[in-house]
Amino acid sequence: MKKKLVVLTGAGISAESGIATFRDSNGLWEGHNVMDVASPEGWRKDRALVLDFYNQRRKQALGVKPNEAHLELARLEKYFDVTIITQNVDNLHEKAGSNNVIHLHGELFKSQSTMDPSLVYKMDGWELNIGDKCERGSQLRPFIVWFGEMVPMIEPAIDIVSKADIFAVIGTSLLVYPAAGLIQYAPKSCIKFIIDVKTPDLGNIHKLYPIEGLASVGTKKMSQEIIEKFI
Ligand code: APR
Repeated sequence: MKKKLVVLTGAGISAESGIATFRDSNGLWEGHNVMDVASPEGWRKDRALVLDFYNQRRKQALGVKPNEAHLELARLEKYFDVTIITQNVDNLHEKAGSNNVIHLHGELFKSQSTMDPSLVYKMDGWELNIGDKCERGSQLRPFIVWFGEMVPMIEPAIDIVSKADIFAVIGTSLLVYPAAGLIQYAPKSCIKFIIDVKTPDLGNIHKLYPIEGLASVGTKKMSQEIIEKFI
């Protein structure tokens, strides 16, 4: 039976595809205060601004390609039972060919009813505007988990992490909870990696094997190691 490889990814894995990370830009996100464009308060204050912000993100994402880190994780499905838990809202893991992706913070190319959160729609184009409605007649919003909102996918993510044989963390500052807390659910016996240009300080609570450098290089290095060790 294939071993279970669980990978938690963050903005750093998409950096080499040309998508800006969050915390490398002084609290501004593409020129905006994060709370203006990614919080329920921001949405209440100025829906047009929020919709436009995500329209621009989608437009930008259309031309973006997965990089070697995404592609390597997809290739690993040949050897391992791979689940990716991503904080990213881009669809680069899917574009790279990964089949099991849990999106903790939503998906850029989906919209959601403001009245009934269970109504989620795949978007064909990049634009979502004032007046775009769900089947029950309420305004659609981006399908993004904003600051201060619940993270419904954390439960299945915890379940998967708790069964991992190998657990890797790639390109995340581990500053945002509950995603950052997932590490603690990895079994003691499972081998753990952290790949980042600048390994976040985890204190001495979590023993992860650090691979410093670009996600593309680090992921390949990890890939070689786990294939040699576990196959
Ligand atoms: N390769 C590897 N790691 C990189 C690279 C790269 N090319 N470039 C940057 N990094 C690392 C940084 O060192 C940092 O540790 O990626 C990490 C990015 O951290 P953040 O910008 O904080 O992104 P992330 O951890 O994904 O943010 C979590 O916060 O704003 C919210 O909801 C948003 O999902 C996001 C969450």
